[in-house]
Amino acid sequence: MSQAHFGRLTDAPATFVLAGARVIDPSDGTDTVRDLAVGEGRIAEEAPADAERIDGRGLVVAPGFCDLHTHLRVPGGNGSETVESGSRAAARGGFTTVCAMPNTDPPLDSPAAVAEIASSVAACRVRVVGAATRGRAGEAAGDLAAMADAGAIGFSDDGAAVPTDGLTREILASLARLGLPLIEHAEDAALGGGGVMRAGPNATRLGLLGWPAEAEVAIVERDIALAAETGARLHLTHLSTAASVEAVRRARARGEAVTCDVTPHHLVLTDAWVAGSRRFSWEEPELREEFAYDGRCRVNPPLASREDALSLLAGVADGTVDAIATDHAPHPPERKLVPFDEAAPGLIGLETALSLGLAAAEAGCLDLPTLVAALSTRPAAIIGEPRGLQSGASANLVVFDPSARWRVEASALASASANTPLLGMELPGVVRLTVADGRVTYRS
Ligand code: DOR
Repeated sequence: MSQAHFGRLTDAPATFVLAGARVIDPSDGTDTVRDLAVGEGRIAEEAPADAERIDGRGLVVAPGFCDLHTHLRVPGGNGSETVESGSRAAARGGFTTVCAMPNTDPPLDSPAAVAEIASSVAACRVRVVGAATRGRAGEAAGDLAAMADAGAIGFSDDGAAVPTDGLTREILASLARLGLPLIEHAEDAALGGGGVMRAGPNATRLGLLGWPAEAEVAIVERDIALAAETGARLHLTHLSTAASVEAVRRARARGEAVTCDVTPHHLVLTDAWVAGSRRFSWEEPELREEFAYDGRCRVNPPLASREDALSLLAGVADGTVDAIATDHAPHPPERKLVPFDEAAPGLIGLETALSLGLAAAEAGCLDLPTLVAALSTRPAAIIGEPRGLQSGASANLVVFDPSARWRVEASALASASANTPLLGMELPGVVRLTVADGRVTYRS
């Protein structure tokens, strides 16, 4: 790994001038080349004469990224991640906030558990998603108001949907009063039928049990209707099908409070990866037998068909998809380097999200300000965090080189896990500096 330095939010505030970088700030539509000063941790009109001067030519500075969907695996993660390693992976990926998901062991389903994770001192802000149901068991609503008081920013049974209409309605009605979103993992377990990859020609060819797109769409449509009925906010996470994004588009056209995110891997990888392709969604697949049945390509929801992946990209480009969220899901080798249908679902994403987004931008699928907004200001708005590079604001930013390339290697990753099929690939986009709450959390 190139020389890297990590910091944390308790370090001394930073002072520097970034000279001549492209400043992209979706909060006010800025996209211009200029100097950006930070003094004592705040964006400033100018920095003291002796402030460190960083050459920003060729670099982009943007608001710090906010990940709505991170598995930090604490408590009970058996070494696959910790708050320390996960927050460093976040900082290295340009993220200044992560939202920790509650499908831990035991689940984050009490005010004490939420408060403990939310008070972590780390290399980024750690916000917490509380379990929507008690014990994440899908039987009774959790103590939502008490977890909200303890700092939960939303609620989810991620890994599964809230199973029944009645329980979903009850949870949404409580959340309408609290003003917080249900962050739904949309998967109808019965329709999913235990499938291990997206149903379609690739699954058929490989002889693997398919998980049909309808399993997602059924819950998306159910929840959109129940959110409208109860007046609650609904956030649909890791959407993976064109039909789901279309349902969100229609709900928003009716003025409903529905937001959604997609993951970098559902935008850029496809179900052809399970069959051995290593081509991106906008490229023709090329199947290589030695890569087929790679357990590192198993993820839930499963990697999308090429058509769906391109529709998801179009949804980001036209703004229907609010956010790119990683679903960073660390797992140890013994749970991934096994026969495909025995592999745990999930892959790490914090350190490759920007790079996959930039690859899509290089291919002409997204423009850079839209990509930046989907990683920073728009997800931050969903959890009520300020973002923006205006003078006086607490410095919360990322500086990256959009054209520098790096090779994804386990030894280069700050995450405690390396379960990604991107290992060995060369990707665009290197983060040079991350500043969270005025502190340098990563520098390379
Ligand atoms: O692929 C996934 N991994 N999807 C989920 O919903 C859960 C996650 C995990 O916790 O590993």
